[in-house]
Amino acid sequence: MSEMNSLISKINRLKKENNAVMLVHNYQRPEIYKVADFIGDSLELSKEAAKTDADIIVFCGVDFMAESAKILNPNKKVLIPVRDAQCPMAGMVTRQELLNLKKQHPGAAVVSYVNTSAETKAESDICCTSSNCVDVVNSLPEKEVIFVPDENLAKYVQTKSDKEIIPWKGFCYVHSKITASQVKEAKNLHSGAKVLVHPECPLDVIALADHVCSTSQMLYYAKENEANEFIIITEHGMVERLKLEMPEKKFYAIIATCIQQKKNTLPTVLRSIEEEIYPVEIDREIIKKARVALDRMLEVSRKFG
Ligand code: 13P
Ligand code: SF4
Repeated sequence: MSEMNSLISKINRLKKENNAVMLVHNYQRPEIYKVADFIGDSLELSKEAAKTDADIIVFCGVDFMAESAKILNPNKKVLIPVRDAQCPMAGMVTRQELLNLKKQHPGAAVVSYVNTSAETKAESDICCTSSNCVDVVNSLPEKEVIFVPDENLAKYVQTKSDKEIIPWKGFCYVHSKITASQVKEAKNLHSGAKVLVHPECPLDVIALADHVCSTSQMLYYAKENEANEFIIITEHGMVERLKLEMPEKKFYAIIATCIQQKKNTLPTVLRSIEEEIYPVEIDREIIKKARVALDRMLEVSRKFG
């Protein structure tokens, strides 16, 4: 048996013995897919976390995703295999910065992208992900909406909403670096391909899209669309997921790598289950408040599908 297969079978055996579930984000390495119980985008992973009856959740993604799973399951053990698999954008708005912004706009609702800390979520009215950001903002009664931390996402939502969006200055270092000329170059090379763009990209990149959506929505779009070729404008790992699901279609990636998402490997996942490390720990009061914002988001998602 190869070293990889032996790691996979050890992980799968320990998962069963310990009643653990493995939740895996689309951007993870393809070998991690092989030990996944569920692979998805941020919203789908939150939904899975909310309904699991496993005793242990091993989360292969980045910190804010594992924290959301803990907020939704405060009595379960949630493990993140690599402690510093941290999304830099999630640290770009602190609780105090959000409190200051709220003081400046007392009538505004607060929407925090799930890519935030638990402390920031706790000061928010509702969370959103890339797949429901427009529905979440438009579901609110307030006319003014503070939207943190991703400025590109806020600007995209503004194009789809009559609300007055008050953005913050956060950004994803992977998506914000993608340029319109890169996308045009890819379109020239693959003229028949559909262009799918993640909304963390700049607006001039979004303007070149056939469809703007979350990572998993790219998968559903490509499955249903009759086109056979797609240019995928997001972290390049997404293409691995698409190729796995649709080997008969062609997917072209752009150079864009999230180093933090790639920190999980099969050996670190095995160590995580064997030694039950690293448990996600969040203050109970923070969990209670952050849970309200996450539950409201899940409620909007149920309504709008
Ligand atoms: P999705 O919710 O679309 O998977 O996005 C998560 C993310 O971190 C994008 O950079
Ligand atoms: Fe965070 Fe960007 Fe990586 Fe997504 S791709 S986890 S937003 S740094």
